[in-house]
Formats: sequence, structure tokens, C-alpha cells
Amino acid sequence: MSLLRDLAQPILNAPMAGAAGGRLAGAVSAAGGFGMIGIAGAITEEWLAREVPLAAASGRPWGAGMMAWVLDGGLDPVRMVLDHKPDLLCISFGDPGPAAQLARDAGVTTAMQVGNAEDVDRAIEADIDLIVCRGSEGGGHGRGEVATLPLLQLVLDRTDKPVIAAGGIATARGVAAVLAAGAAAAWVGTRFAACTESLSADSLKQAIASAAVDDTVYTRAFDVAQRIPWPSEFGGRAIRNPFTEEWADRIDELQQRVDSEDELTDRMNAARASGDVTVAPVYAGQSAGLTPRVESAADVIADLARFREHLNAAWVAWQ
Ligand SMILES: Cc1cc2nc3c(=O)[nH]c(=O)nc-3n(C[C@H](O)[C@H](O)[C@H](O)COP(=O)(O)O)c2cc1C
Repeated sequence: MSLLRDLAQPILNAPMAGAAGGRLAGAVSAAGGFGMIGIAGAITEEWLAREVPLAAASGRPWGAGMMAWVLDGGLDPVRMVLDHKPDLLCISFGDPGPAAQLARDAGVTTAMQVGNAEDVDRAIEADIDLIVCRGSEGGGHGRGEVATLPLLQLVLDRTDKPVIAAGGIATARGVAAVLAAGAAAAWVGTRFAACTESLSADSLKQAIASAAVDDTVYTRAFDVAQRIPWPSEFGGRAIRNPFTEEWADRIDELQQRVDSEDELTDRMNAARASGDVTVAPVYAGQSAGLTPRVESAADVIADLARFREHLNAAWVAWQ
């Protein structure tokens, strides 16, 4: 896949709605990786007109990621994105077929994040070009079923298509590990979410940079509280906080409460607006514990690019 072979570094930033806008994507592409923007549920032409030029500023390829379940209401958002001529369109979390067909018709490479064996079948059936194995340790939404390494081994044995590894990769060692296993590239979310160029509030970036590897929780609690109709099979991994301590294990009760009164939803929306991380979601994976500080995307790419040293050390030790 020339789109990946042409990269100076085999690294893509994950398309993270609310974090990966044009500035982050543009910085990643300019540093030799592949920049992606994350498209939120309610997309506007105004947002695209502002963010896409930033993503494309380096003149290097860029991509966009969308949520398939949002497109059950119609494919107009896909047409809006395709009008801006991305080089890659990733459609995850639901049936990618109709959106992928539109992308293919427009000559755009397609990708899909898969989280279990059924997703892999779906991606192969829809003839998706790049399969992104997204393990349950990853940040943000996805399946909470299979970890990155087992999923990667499964998919690499099942398809000849290029496979990208995602979930829990935040250091040069992690990049080396997935490339050694046969991945074509690494897809990194959490570490880039904490970058200077990320759209996330400073309090969220600081929460990621100061979290430990065991500080995250996989839960639907934030979506239930905000009344976001994510299909129940997709939860989200976020930094544990007083809100998750109270509700993560009481989803049915939370649902009843939200159905009968607005107080929790209002409190969650206010916390999101003010960046109050004791209530609001800080979506991040276990790799938050490997994210040392808020820094530029170029510095992260330069750090991850040291994967070559680790591959070389393993080769010298075991050839
Ligand atoms: C803050 C945040 C927001 C995310 N938003 C999206 C999104 O809008 N669309 C998407 O396909 N994936 C999204 N993801 C998931 C990523 O694409 C990816 O699966 C994940 O970040 C990989 O794991 P890592 O965080 O350990 O690197 C998001 C992840 C994070 C951390």
C-alpha cells in the first residue's frame, strides 16, 4: 500500500473526535507520519473548512476517521468529508460497507478499526483496504474484548491486506513490537491526544500525562450520562475519576436515573464545558501511563522513530 510505504515513519495518529483536529494531523504529517482528523457525530461544513486546510498544510497525505453507527441516518456526512479529498477514510464501529463504497468510488483508500473476529470478517467482506487491529487496552471507544497483541496475530494470519496495530502503543518499544509481528504501521491515540496541537482542554492533557497504566476504566457510563446513543457493544476507555468510581459498575441504575431526570446529564455537560476532569470523561488508554508529558507531535514522532534501535537490538540478540 503506497500510502504507507511513502511515509518516513510508519506511524498514524488516531482520528480522535475532540482531540485530533487539523493542527494535530498537520503536525504529524509534517513530521513524517500520517495525520488523521477525527470527525464527531455532528459534523459541520464550517468545522471541515477550518480544520482540513490545517491537516493538509504540509502537502503530505492526510486522513479522516468517522463512526459507522452515526451514518445509519444517511451518508451525507461521508460525502461532506470526501468533498475535501482525504487520502484515507477510516469507518469504524458498525457496518463500514456503504461509506466504504462511496470512498472507493471517489478513489479514496479505506480503513476500519476491528476489535474482534466478527469485525475482521466484516472488514474483509467490505473489502476494506487497511485493517486496523484495535485492542481493548486502547483509549476512547471500541470493543472491550480482545487485547492488541492477540488480535494482531489473529488478523495477520487471516489476511494479506496491510494491517495496522492500535491500542496501547505509545513508545518506540511498542512500535517495534507491532512492526516485528508484521504490522505495516502503528496507530497511536492517547499519546497524541496529550500533544500541544491536540484540541483537548489542557486539564485533559495533564490528566493523561499524570496517569499510571492502571488508572483507566472501560465503561459506558459517560455515554449513558450524556445520552449519546453509542451501540451498547462499544464502551469507552477513560481515566478513572470520582464519576466512574460511582457509576461504572451501575450502568442500569445510571440509565434509569438519566431517563427520569436531567441533573446528571446537565452536570456532565457542564463538566465537559469547563474541563472538570473529576466528572468529565478523559478518554485515554492504558498507554496514558506511558505518556510522560504534554509535548509537540514532532517530539512524539521523533521519540517513536527510535523503534529502529529496538528492532536492531532484537535482531542482533536473536539472529
Ligand atoms: C481521546 C480519544 C478520542 C477518540 N476518538 C475516536 C474517534 O472519534 N473515532 C475513532 O475511530 N476512534 C477514536 N478513538 C480511538 C482511537 O482511534 C484508537 O483506537 C485508540 O486511541 C488507540 O489506542 P491508544 O489510545 O492506546 O493509542 C479515540 C481515542 C481517544 C484516546
